[in-house]
Amino acid sequence: MAKNSNLGAAKAAKNDEFYTQYADIQKEVNAYLEYNPDTFRDKTVLLPCDDPEWSNFTRFFAQNFERLGLKRLISTSYAVESKKYKNYQPTLFETESPLFDIDKTRVKGKIFELTRDTNGNGRIDIDDLEWHYLENDGDFRSQEVCKLRDESDIIVTNPPFSLFREFMAWVIEAKKKFLILGNFNAITYKEVFPYIKDNMIWTGNKRFGGGMDMIMPKDIFDPNKIKKYYLDEHGNIIQNIMGVIWFTNLEHGRRHEPLQLMSMQDNLRYSKHRDLRERGYVHYVNYNAIDVPYFDAVPGDYEGPMGVPVTFLDKYCPEQFEIIGHSLQLADMSVIKKALGKTGGGPRFYIEEDGKLIRLYERLVIRKKQQTI
Ligand SMILES: C[S@@+](CC[C@H](N)C(=O)[O-])C[C@H]1O[C@@H](n2cnc3c(N)ncnc32)[C@H](O)[C@@H]1O
Repeated sequence: MAKNSNLGAAKAAKNDEFYTQYADIQKEVNAYLEYNPDTFRDKTVLLPCDDPEWSNFTRFFAQNFERLGLKRLISTSYAVESKKYKNYQPTLFETESPLFDIDKTRVKGKIFELTRDTNGNGRIDIDDLEWHYLENDGDFRSQEVCKLRDESDIIVTNPPFSLFREFMAWVIEAKKKFLILGNFNAITYKEVFPYIKDNMIWTGNKRFGGGMDMIMPKDIFDPNKIKKYYLDEHGNIIQNIMGVIWFTNLEHGRRHEPLQLMSMQDNLRYSKHRDLRERGYVHYVNYNAIDVPYFDAVPGDYEGPMGVPVTFLDKYCPEQFEIIGHSLQLADMSVIKKALGKTGGGPRFYIEEDGKLIRLYERLVIRKKQQTI
């Protein structure tokens, strides 16, 4: 491939080709086990969108097959010729296998399965993975992978971010349990938000802040553009990707921990946010709610609707609050049009400050549940 087209392909692939570290998967899964040790017991786990020969998802679930009590582990990969970035060498695992097929290696997906102790060493682990080429390229939307999805109980992966909406719809339509990585911005996607509002999807145990350190393939990584990175003990390039969070419908304990909140009066007196103490809780111009610009300034005794930053979801406890919607859906832009003669950008809540209308960042609207803890 010529140098320029190589770079172009690398750029296009950047959003889809970064890989999850073992420790991040382990830490997240452990939170579900802490809440319910049987979360994965007797379950079939599907890892689509993986490169099973070296994916840490495959490694983690295979190594922990017995501890988790899995029934079956299935991991599938996408054929290199179907990927946006095609710089790929088959691993020794594949080339040294009697199943290796030069005509299939670049155009077919692969499936790895773990169900039994194949080598008779008394354990079921990564050495017992069995594999073969798929009939097709391993696209998660293919009939072949849809069939595997339908046979599975829990879908776990870090999907290609460029196809996140489609991937989420694919998981939801199958009514499966799932644990997947995505970008924070996906919270307000129309394919995701209605389920978050109805408590059918929530964010994972990992906190939002700090992004996630991910493994970048060496030939995609451009050290001239990315200044902050480090090498792990295996020599992998690790780059921090901002906004990466887990989405799930598996229960974990943290989401049931209510926020400890001050009353409105105490916030107005003692809040650490000076602007809040000075300005108070301002009403929106184009929606009937007060603005609460910080999660730790949510007044615990306020009964009406409150607009909070979307990051509030990281602290959201469904027993404490209900979610009414978000500003993109709820803002009455006719009021703004009337006042300003135009509406710049999409629907958002506005407040009035010194006679000027100020457009705010996206807000979630929440309300205290009646039987608050
Ligand atoms: C963000 S990477 C994550 C890989 C792996 N899950 C991990 O975290 O280590 C997403 C993977 O999905 C693959 N992919 C892209 N489009 C796909 C599709 N339509 N179907 C299946 N996999 C796809 C990419 O090539 C890439 O290997």
